Order: sequence, then structure tokens, then C-alpha cells
Amino acid sequence: MSTKTKILFGCTECGAVANKWAGQCSACHAWNTMVEVKEAAPTKAAKSARYSGYTGSLSAVQLMAEIPLESMPRILTGLSELDRVLGGGMVTGSVILVGGDPGVGKSTIVLQTLCRLSLQLKALYVTGEESVQQVAMRAKRLELPDQELLLLAETNVERICQLATEQQPQVIVIDSIQTMHLDEVPGAPGGISQVKESAAYLTQYAKKMGISIWVVGHVTKTGDLAGPRVLEHIVDVVCYIEGNSDSRYRIIRSVKNRFGAVNEVGVFAMTDHGLKEVKNPSAIFLSHFAEACSGSVVTVIWEGTRPLLIEMQALVDESHLENPRRVTVGLEQNRLAMLLAVLHKHGGIATYGQDIFVNVVGGVRVTETSADLAVVMAVVSSYRDTPLPKDMVVLGEIGLAGEIRPVPNGQERLREAAKHGFKRAIAPKTNVPKAGISGMEIISVEKLADALEAM
Ligand code: TYD
Ligand code: MG
Repeated sequence: MSTKTKILFGCTECGAVANKWAGQCSACHAWNTMVEVKEAAPTKAAKSARYSGYTGSLSAVQLMAEIPLESMPRILTGLSELDRVLGGGMVTGSVILVGGDPGVGKSTIVLQTLCRLSLQLKALYVTGEESVQQVAMRAKRLELPDQELLLLAETNVERICQLATEQQPQVIVIDSIQTMHLDEVPGAPGGISQVKESAAYLTQYAKKMGISIWVVGHVTKTGDLAGPRVLEHIVDVVCYIEGNSDSRYRIIRSVKNRFGAVNEVGVFAMTDHGLKEVKNPSAIFLSHFAEACSGSVVTVIWEGTRPLLIEMQALVDESHLENPRRVTVGLEQNRLAMLLAVLHKHGGIATYGQDIFVNVVGGVRVTETSADLAVVMAVVSSYRDTPLPKDMVVLGEIGLAGEIRPVPNGQERLREAAKHGFKRAIAPKTNVPKAGISGMEIISVEKLADALEAM
């Protein structure tokens, strides 16, 4: 059988293919990225392998009840915060994507994990970004158990799988998916088709061999087109490392997990000895001033399956700008705008002549609405320059009618605060347990006005 070749033009940015050359790619609108590619018509075998699904299994209709349920063994990674994110350890045969901004610590965490795993499993670290010397030096410097770890510098996915078949590792790290490529796929490494196809190939390989693969992926600053987002449906577990470069804390969050709960977080600190687990995360996100200061309010957010105490800070200052500034760090700006409107309408406090800055201490990102009341009270506290008592926590979502709505897991949140020595709380009425919480005086509120009065 002869293989036909036809001339096509592929975009080096996004991997889109067109029949005609053009100055601008019609898919990603990048200029001067179309190059000639010769695409061999895929052979029958290659085609069927490519389209046989991510798990690569042969299709046959089966009765669900007759499917053998092998228990999927979990392997502890040795980092309990990471095990928590994975839902209780790494499942054998799973594909785990670790995403995050460049420099956030992806290579560090996978290297630490793999070295620990290499004590019980045969482990292979494939690097496409750093040389094997660099990886080895990092492991030495971090004093990791690196005696048994296998290293490979390679970016061709087929070759990696070939070598893996020879060496039979039980767990592989691919650092990073943006450097990987398959020969038969058009486009440069890092382009969307290369990233997608390489990940699908690796996933298929992992399922076929029953081994676990950790895939590192960068989230690109300029639109995450070729970033890990396009892979989320292919892999089993997706976790992202969050944290700003100016804070040493890193939060690993699972956004998809076929074997556990999502939105579970693990907290780490970046030290000169790599990432260290933070066992009591609530303690670190609070500032430790001796005196209470205005504009600072403590609240409890819910991260995955546990409460986390955080501090919300606001600075309200007279503005000399036509459009006063509304700056938020760790919080959505629109949420602040909405809360300020509610504060004006239902609390009678106008802030349109003021610059307002709101910051969540410690680089935490707050996405839930339970911190609404804390934001508003921080703003009011700074505006009036009156601090809240140091031992007070504030909980509650604010509705557009100025009502204070209950938050999920309210009692657990209050208990967590009490555990950390908070003696007073302002909380939505329905969240306050009838029996109260021992050692804590709780002011229950129904309206924003009640809360402002309680300050
Ligand atoms: P790295 O894991 O290489 O990031 P990524 O793979 O996500 O791009 O981590 C890079 C950053 O971490 C770098 O700025 C230096 C810092 N770092 C430490 O502070 N301590 C350490 O022990 C290590 C290994 C890295
Ligand atoms: Mg890296």
C-alpha cells in the first residue's frame, strides 16, 4: 500500500492545519506562523490507535455487574498534604496533571515526590526542559533519596514510551508536556495539537501498562490555549499549584479528581530545601500583630474538606482621582464593587470619594462568597479607623437586599476559629448552633445593618 503525501500548512503556534498558505493563522490569529508540513496519510494501524479512546481498550459490550472490580491500590507519596489533594494517595495507573505558572514549583514538587516514590517503586523522571545534570544537582541539593531514580532527557513521546517499555518503570514524570512531541503530529512542541496528542498518547500508554504518569504543564500567561486546560478531560487528576512569587506559600488544589473530592487543597512553603508541608495552615495566614489594627478582619473560608482561617485587609483612603481606585488582591474586583454598592444602599455608607484596596493576606485566593461580610467590615473598619477586637471572626454572604446569608459548614468554621483562640464571632443567624460554641460569644446577624451596629 502506498502512502499518499499531500502538502499542508500548519501553524507553529497553535497547530491548526490549512490547505492554503496564509499570512495569518485563521485559528489563533498569529502572524507569519504558517509553515509547510508534509503530512503522510496515517496508516490504518496508527489511525485506529489514535482514535481508540484515551484508555486504548478494545471495545466490547459488557454487563456492568460482571465487570471485575479490582480495588485500586493507593500509594502514599510521603507528603501528606499532597496525598490529601490526590484523595488519599496516588492511584496506580492514574495520570496526574500538575499545572501552574512558570517558576511556581512544579518541577520541585514532582522531583520531591518521585524521589520518595522511588524508594518503593521503580521510577523514571523524564525531563524536556532541564538537563539530567540540572535535575540531579537539584535532587542532591534538596538532599532527596535519589539512589534509585532513573533519569532521561528526551522529548519524543514514542521514544519515551519505547524506553519505558524496556525499563518497566511503575511511575513516570513528564516535565513538561509543552516540550513533548510526536513525529506524526504537525506543529511545534507546545502547540495545542502536540500537547493534546502527546498527552493522549501518554495516557493511553499509562492505561495499557497500568503505570502512573505525572505530567507537568505550564499555564501560559498569554491565554492558556496550549496550557494544561486543554488536557483536563484527558487525564484522571488535575491539580494546580497557586501562589505568588512574592509569597513563599504554595497551595496545591485539585480541580478534577476521578478518585476523590475536588477543590481539596494542600499547603506548602517554598524553602531553600524545596517545598515543605505546612501542617497547620490556619496559623500562617493570620498576621501576628500584638494589637488589633483597623481594616483587618479574620474570616474562615472552606477549602476542600477543611476550614482555613484567613485575614482580609482593607485600606480606605480619600481619593484625588476622578475614578477612585478599587484594587483587590486575592479577591474578585466585581465582588468588591457589588459589596460597596450594597454597603451604600443598605448600610448608608458611601465610598465613592475613596480609593479602596482589599488584600487577602498570605497570597490566598478567595473565590467563595462566605467572605463577603468580612470584606465589608474590613472596609468599614478602615473607613472609620476603628479596629475590630483582635479575637473576633466574621462570617457571612451578603445578598443584594442587604441580607446576611448563611454559609456552608458554618458550625465547623466557627469551631475552627474557636480552636485557634477566637472568643467572639459575627455570623449569619442560621449558622449559629442552638447550643452555642463553648468559649465563644456569637453575635448572630440577619441584615447588614445589624452587623455594622455590632462593630
Ligand atoms: P521550579 O520547580 O523549577 O518551578 P517550575 O517547574 O514550576 O517552573 O521552581 C522554581 C522556583 O522555586 C525558583 O524560582 C526557585 C525556587 N526554589 C526555591 O526557592 N527553593 C528550592 O529548593 C528550589 C528547588 C526552588
Ligand atoms: Mg520546571
